[in-house]
Amino acid sequence: MTIAPPAVLGIETSCDETAAAVLRGDRRILSSVVLSQVALHEVHGGVVPEIAARAHLDHCDEVVRRAVAESGVGWTGIGAVAATVGPGLIGGLVVGAMTGKAIALALGVPFLAINHLEGHALSPRLDPGVAFPYLLLLASGGHCQFLVVEDRGRYSRLGGTIDDAAGEAFDKTAKLLGLGYPGGPALERAAASGDPARFALPRPMAGRPGCDFSFSGLKTAMRHAVEALDGEPGARDVADLAASFQRAVADVVADRARNALRMAEERGVAPTALVVAGGVAANAEIRARLAAVGAGHGLELRAPPLRLCTDNAAMIAWAGVERLARGERDPLDAPARPRWPLDPRAA
Ligand code: KG4
Ligand code: ZN
Repeated sequence: MTIAPPAVLGIETSCDETAAAVLRGDRRILSSVVLSQVALHEVHGGVVPEIAARAHLDHCDEVVRRAVAESGVGWTGIGAVAATVGPGLIGGLVVGAMTGKAIALALGVPFLAINHLEGHALSPRLDPGVAFPYLLLLASGGHCQFLVVEDRGRYSRLGGTIDDAAGEAFDKTAKLLGLGYPGGPALERAAASGDPARFALPRPMAGRPGCDFSFSGLKTAMRHAVEALDGEPGARDVADLAASFQRAVADVVADRARNALRMAEERGVAPTALVVAGGVAANAEIRARLAAVGAGHGLELRAPPLRLCTDNAAMIAWAGVERLARGERDPLDAPARPRWPLDPRAA
């Protein structure tokens, strides 16, 4: 007789999504609810921490209730609770962590304090074909780094951004071009009809050793390009600026990924795949360039489906499943950790 692995309830509140999901140990996502706060933050052009915290408090219980109801397993079917406790905005982390702890206590099931970055890093393994070790580019609104994912809990950071995250650069550039928030998808749409060669933009860090990123020079160059136009940018200008920016970012990402693969190999790692996760993994041009770099090393590019690339709670529940499988659990006084690097040696 095989015993069905227990279902894990995941809770995610580290930034501007209130999310809950129920996942079975055999990787089946039974429910995944994501409530975006975009409408609350877009008038401010970015996430406002206090508004985010209050919105998590308003909606966390209803989102969790919906995820449990939609899962079909009911409260008695929940075998563990996994909640993001860091890194992120402290107000939201406290709301999600307290909700998760209270439910775990009430149900008498294990509690797992999850690192949001570990959620992203392990999410590709919701596809059973992705085996350790793999090289991961984690590129979101808050993070931009290359990691060798050696095993659950073992991460080597090879490099990362020294200023803005890639998604942040997309968001700020979209704002400059009047394209709205979040900027990544809007900028990609605008770029589709633009000429990527019209504006000569820098490729910060490209050609340098290592795999660090920097986006501030590119941001400044974009501002100068807009200022050099004759008057306000028209639709044609915006499309060309967006396409030129996206091409510059894709060139940099490809250059950095080539170095990261080399660095991993120099450390004796034989990655099974090149993986990209985080919201920026949605960008088709960046994906295509990464796929070409991977192919050059005989590696396939793996990217979780889009709904698992952007913030969600299924990835948090999955990190919980991976930890439970190794016999791990956390005490109910586990702290919230606004800063929590995956690779403590690179902190
Ligand atoms: O992973 P995510 O949902 O949240 C964080 O943990 O930050 O990533 C959101 C980020 C935003 O900066 C957004 O502009 C960017 O991912 N993004 C994109 C695209 N879709 C989302 N960037 C470039 N191209 C896209 N298609
Ligand atoms: Zn994230």
